[in-house]
Amino acid sequence: MVSKELENAINKQINAEFWSAYLYLSMSTWFAHEALPGFANWFKVQFQEEQDHALKFMNYLISKGNKVELKPIEKVDTTWSSVLKAFEDTLEHEKVVTSLINNLVSVSRKENDYATENMLQWFVNEQVEEEETAQAMIDSLKLIGSNGFGIYTMDKELAQRSYTPLTATTTA
Ligand code: FEO
Repeated sequence: MVSKELENAINKQINAEFWSAYLYLSMSTWFAHEALPGFANWFKVQFQEEQDHALKFMNYLISKGNKVELKPIEKVDTTWSSVLKAFEDTLEHEKVVTSLINNLVSVSRKENDYATENMLQWFVNEQVEEEETAQAMIDSLKLIGSNGFGIYTMDKELAQRSYTPLTATTTA
C-alpha cells in the first residue's frame, strides 16, 4: 500500500486529471462552435488522453490496495477570446499539472516509496511533452497572427491527430 498522505495526494491528482479532461473537452466544443473542426479534434484527443492519465493513477492505487476517491469536478471556462488564448491557457494549466506531479515525486521520495516514484516517472516525461507541444502551438499561432489562411491550414493539419489509448501495460 502507499501511505495515507500519498493516497490523498494521488486522489487529488486523479481529480486534477479529470478537470484537465473537462477543460479540454470544453475547448473542443468551443472550437467546434467557432467552425474550426481540426482544432476541436485536437482538443478532443487531448480530452481522451487526460482521461487515460486519471485512469493510470486510479489503476495504480487499486493495484496497491489503496482506496480511489472520485471527487467533484470544478467548473471550467466555456469561451476564449482567441485561438491563441486557448493555447496560452493550455500551457499555463500544464505548468500547474507539472508542479503537482513534481510535488508527488517529492512526497514519494520523502517516504522512500520507490514504486510510486517509478510510476511517476512516466508522468514527469509526459509533462515535458505536454508543455513542449503547447508552446509549439503558441509559437505557430504567433507566426500566423491574424492570417485567416494560416488558421485554416493549421485547422486542416490538426484534424489529422488521432487518439491512441495507453496500452493495458502502461495504464496498470
Ligand atoms: Fe495529464 Fe496534460 O497532463
